[in-house]
Amino acid sequence: MTENKKTPARPTLKAVRGTRDLLPDQTPLWNHVEATARALFARYGFGEIRTPIFETTELFARGVGEETDIVSKEMFTWEDGERFSEKKLIEAWRSANADQVHFQGEEVKLPGMKGAGVDLIVYRKATNTLEFVEFKSKATLEAMHQLVANIELARSSDPVNYGRGKVIPRLVVPAGRARISSSSQLTPGGVIEEIAGDFFETTQSVTLRPESTAGVVRAYIEHKLGETGQLQKLYYIGPQFRRERPQRGRYRQFWQIGAEVIGPQSSGSESPLRDAEILEMLASFLDELGIRDWRLELNSVGSSEDRVRYNAALREALQPIKHQLCEDNQRRADTNPLRVLDSKDEADQDLINALPKIADYLGPESKAHFDQVLAALDACNVPYHLNPRLVRGLDYYTRTTFEFTVTTGLGTQNALLGGGRYDGLSEMLGGPKAPGIGFAIGEDRLILTLQAQAEADAATSGAPIASTRLDAYIAPLTPTQNPAALALARELRTAGFSVEVGDGTFKLRKSFDIADTLARHIILLGEDEVATNILTVKTFATGEQIKLPRTELAKHLSS
Ligand code: HAM
Repeated sequence: MTENKKTPARPTLKAVRGTRDLLPDQTPLWNHVEATARALFARYGFGEIRTPIFETTELFARGVGEETDIVSKEMFTWEDGERFSEKKLIEAWRSANADQVHFQGEEVKLPGMKGAGVDLIVYRKATNTLEFVEFKSKATLEAMHQLVANIELARSSDPVNYGRGKVIPRLVVPAGRARISSSSQLTPGGVIEEIAGDFFETTQSVTLRPESTAGVVRAYIEHKLGETGQLQKLYYIGPQFRRERPQRGRYRQFWQIGAEVIGPQSSGSESPLRDAEILEMLASFLDELGIRDWRLELNSVGSSEDRVRYNAALREALQPIKHQLCEDNQRRADTNPLRVLDSKDEADQDLINALPKIADYLGPESKAHFDQVLAALDACNVPYHLNPRLVRGLDYYTRTTFEFTVTTGLGTQNALLGGGRYDGLSEMLGGPKAPGIGFAIGEDRLILTLQAQAEADAATSGAPIASTRLDAYIAPLTPTQNPAALALARELRTAGFSVEVGDGTFKLRKSFDIADTLARHIILLGEDEVATNILTVKTFATGEQIKLPRTELAKHLSS
């Protein structure tokens, strides 16, 4: 044995607790689930939306609610790096020029200037000139020309008659951090004036998304999707992040497949039909995937007005029994009594079950809405169980709320998916009124359930869990045949076959062993085979080994 020089062992690096890798033996099932979702959602008229994985922290604080577990203790939040502050720069410029410049209010607006890329128009007393100031690099050459052309307009219509002076388009950029991307932006007649100072700020707090509804509604508002007047049916598939204590079915990075139906009231977004359609779609999805024992739990948490009355009743009922509850529930009883209903604390269950029920506080409109949801579900034969304690852990819900649970595979984390209506969320985020309803499926939990079912089936039937094999494994007999093997693989792959290529340095026995685990056939490629184009092919399922011309190979592999 040769002596190895010892290098000091470095600690191995591992995926962060609560995150995991999905390896190629797992991803086919994930892809199957996602492909099934995409195909099914398309049949219901949904289109895909992809929103950023991080958003401003404020979005979640306002959307999901400061008092929820998610926002108060589970978010991955950090201060964003430097951001250029136009405001700081404008302020610095103004104070540097204050003694020479006459400001008309905030700025002088001239007709036709919109879109010309001008941030400030100032009148310089000393030179009797108008100055057009552009603080960022957005002024293009066209914008400059347009600017100069617009002065004619200004001359005729400007009431304070600034038009006497000549025009000096002027660019001001922050010192050392110039954002001018092309020199053409600096002409004609442009002057660069450098202002020293720090015009960057680090104020923005951002958060890895713990859920996607808030982001989707933010995008709905930002892109004015409501102005189309159409109902928006949007779905998403992607990772979410919550700093929870990891356990089976609960991760810090997990995947959700979700969908939202949102729109102005005139688009029918408030209709109970939408609630029932979502629930029926979910039932169809789980059935199509072969999830056997799902259970739909359903409730209405009422309108925001109903909730005010119910919250008051809950608070009152909780006061005399508060001291008997666990510490968390005592706190919730004061801050957000609805959250007490979510509690899983064993010892508190009897007391919680005896609290007033939301169903008794629904106003006539909420009640009629919920009754219509139930009637539509009955018509579609979607079974459900009413659960008066289902209030869900996010603050935006109104009226219909639901969860689908399963008994196989998940243990205590048995909620496969959850969702509900959020008629006030858009307004909470500063948008127009836009009632909506949606859901998110925990994809990790869905996969665990499917795997547990498949294992249970294999145990009862004795059949192994099916695995997918490649069509062929090409085994060159020596390294000399490696190029020919790759060329044959290319030919077969182009024809649509799945193929792996061995390496001619492998012993024949090893090639057979590898091929048998990976593929349905092995194709041997020695000197003779390459010379004659007569190939040796073995089919593992039957044990049959034959010689056949290369031209017949595709037909043989397909049979
Ligand atoms: P959620 O109930 O917080 O609702 O999450 C939905 C589903 O995501 C849960 O039922 C569960 O299957 C899965 N899930 C949640 N946390 C974890 C975790 N730490 N590890 C694994 N899976 C998890 C929402 O997120 C709402 N945005 C749903 C919605 C959409 N409501 C209206 N529209």
